[in-house]
Amino acid sequence: MLSMRSPFPSSSLTTLASSLLLAASGTVGTAWSNPDPLSEKIPSLKEAYAKAFLIGAAPGVAVEKDPAAQKLLAQQFNAVTPENCMKPESIQPKEGEFDFSHADWLVRFAETHHMKVIGHTLAWHHQTPGWFFKTKDGQPASRELALERLEKHITAVVGRYKGRILGWDVVNEAVGDGNNSQLRENSPWMKVVGPEFIEKAFAYAHAADPDAELYYNDYNVERPDKLKKTIALVKNLQAKGLRIDGVGIQGHWGVKFPLKDLEEAILQLKACGVKVMLTELDMNVLPGRQQGADISDTAKWKSQLDPYAKGCPPEVLRKQADQYAALFGLLLKHRDTVTRVSFWGISDGYSWLNDWPIPGRTNHALLFDRELKPKPAFHAVINAANPSSPADPRP
Ligand code: G3I
Repeated sequence: MLSMRSPFPSSSLTTLASSLLLAASGTVGTAWSNPDPLSEKIPSLKEAYAKAFLIGAAPGVAVEKDPAAQKLLAQQFNAVTPENCMKPESIQPKEGEFDFSHADWLVRFAETHHMKVIGHTLAWHHQTPGWFFKTKDGQPASRELALERLEKHITAVVGRYKGRILGWDVVNEAVGDGNNSQLRENSPWMKVVGPEFIEKAFAYAHAADPDAELYYNDYNVERPDKLKKTIALVKNLQAKGLRIDGVGIQGHWGVKFPLKDLEEAILQLKACGVKVMLTELDMNVLPGRQQGADISDTAKWKSQLDPYAKGCPPEVLRKQADQYAALFGLLLKHRDTVTRVSFWGISDGYSWLNDWPIPGRTNHALLFDRELKPKPAFHAVINAANPSSPADPRP
């Protein structure tokens, strides 16, 4: 296995020490008692939730070289979202020069394993190369030129995978944060095209693959202020007769987040007639930037900000598991509206949260650990689907 971003070489003493630590706690599954996820003896998430919603994961390109992660992916999940390789900067880094290699690999992998593919993403303020917004001689592009490029990009990318993608995250993170503006004003799409870029992107995507579902995707959608703005965006598209099938609530959360707000968001979006997906779920266990830390004491500062570099304490894993269980309980309650829950990554070693907002930390945000073994959170999620499941190793 290629141990991406893993702080533990698989045979290291560190692993042994953390296994002993877990074994000593007696409260969570241990490295000894945890069944090997690749032995196919553990239950699968996709089967546990088969009657409720799709269970997805977001592999990065490193997974192409990791047969063990591929096996886990195919065994546990029935949907994939490419973490980065379909984003504009990856798939069309220079005007007219496309790199479909990684996206092709993932779509083929998904088809081989009967998984749905979610396209991510077509219009975003981030990870979109500057050439979209400049003329050949470096001057600011006109609105018409930027729209022409958006149309060509969407037509080429959506068209290439026509009939093979369940749905597209057409527009990502366009709604404004925290202030009063309905839309993110500092997006280059807003500056060059204005709010209409959203409608255009949905129209171009629909024209390129009329059968594909089309989604708006954002973080913090569950927060009341952003929910209101997201609903306004949905209603505007609907009023103009444009196809929008669903709203993706990303779900980059910590172990504390307001489930009540999430439930309210699901209900309000349902009332608009759209599906809801959790599109990028993870549960950060690391602290944010701390006030008052003495940054001259580098060692102390590092250990404060990266406290679980040698393994995540059982009580933290348990808290995370309980929160995942509560979350999935709520999602099951709303299975008529929630159509997919996708994790952002496959396992802790692959999570973007090891490098954000501070690079090089050791986060433990997902259901599988760095050795691809199921964590307490995995068993909690399985149990939430079937409370009598024997899979949970809790006493
Ligand atoms: O590919 C380069 C590599 O060549 C270079 O050596 C390396 C050095 O930093 O960087 C690599 O690029 C990184 C890229 O991920 C691929 O790994 C970028 O620095 C890094 O910024 C980029 O981060 C991605 C991030 O989107 C960019 O905003 C994360 O992997 C990806 O998980 C994250 O995904 C987003 C969703 O698309 C939208 N919602 C939020 C979510 C989390 O930020």
